[in-house]
Amino acid sequence: MEKVKIRRMRYEDIPQVVEIERDSFPQPYPPPLIMQILSYFPEGFLVAEDERSKKVVGYIMGLIEFGHGHIISIATSKEYRKRGIGSALLKELEDILFKKYNVAYITLEVRFNNREARLFYYRRGYMDKRLLPRYYEDGTDAILMIKKNPYIQLPSPPVVVSMW
Ligand SMILES: CC(C)(COP(=O)(O)OP(=O)(O)OC[C@H]1O[C@@H](n2cnc3c(N)ncnc32)[C@H](O)[C@@H]1OP(=O)(O)O)[C@@H](O)C(=O)NCCC(=O)NCCS
Repeated sequence: MEKVKIRRMRYEDIPQVVEIERDSFPQPYPPPLIMQILSYFPEGFLVAEDERSKKVVGYIMGLIEFGHGHIISIATSKEYRKRGIGSALLKELEDILFKKYNVAYITLEVRFNNREARLFYYRRGYMDKRLLPRYYEDGTDAILMIKKNPYIQLPSPPVVVSMW
């Protein structure tokens, strides 16, 4: 992970982000939509930058929707995968959403057949919530995954002692 830094996404990063997206997903987000969401919640849009080449080598896009966190997309350039970049991006976004904004949970949709991404999320505390049939335009199902805010201490339920 040395030589790669995580920072906020800038408008001028968008072409590089789109390139990584196109290389990673069958249906990438259109750049105008990325720009629109970036302006709506800039804190949730992060990139990993190779400090030597200044190239964007990974990104994550997240926002707050109806009071909970939502990960829209995450990807690392193919040649930079399995070096801890995806984990660092996810951790940084989780810190913003869970610690700063105190959201109760984060959700995301992932292709049912995207085994690598699903395992990546399971190992980082995400669980399957439900199946979203034919969620993607090409008819592929999605899995809605969820992670609860580990920093929120819910009060213990009251102990009820029955006398009868
Ligand atoms: C999912 C994705 C973002 C992960 O990105 P990444 O940068 O490879 O993530 P990391 O390197 O942090 O972790 C990937 C694995 O590499 C391992 N790894 C990390 N550093 C490593 C190293 N130095 N040497 C060997 N393995 C390493 C991690 O432990 C992890 O395995 P684990 O899940 O068993 O713990 C990436 O595979 C990707 O871009 N996929 C295509 C897009 C996609 O599917 N996105 C998700 C859709 S919702």
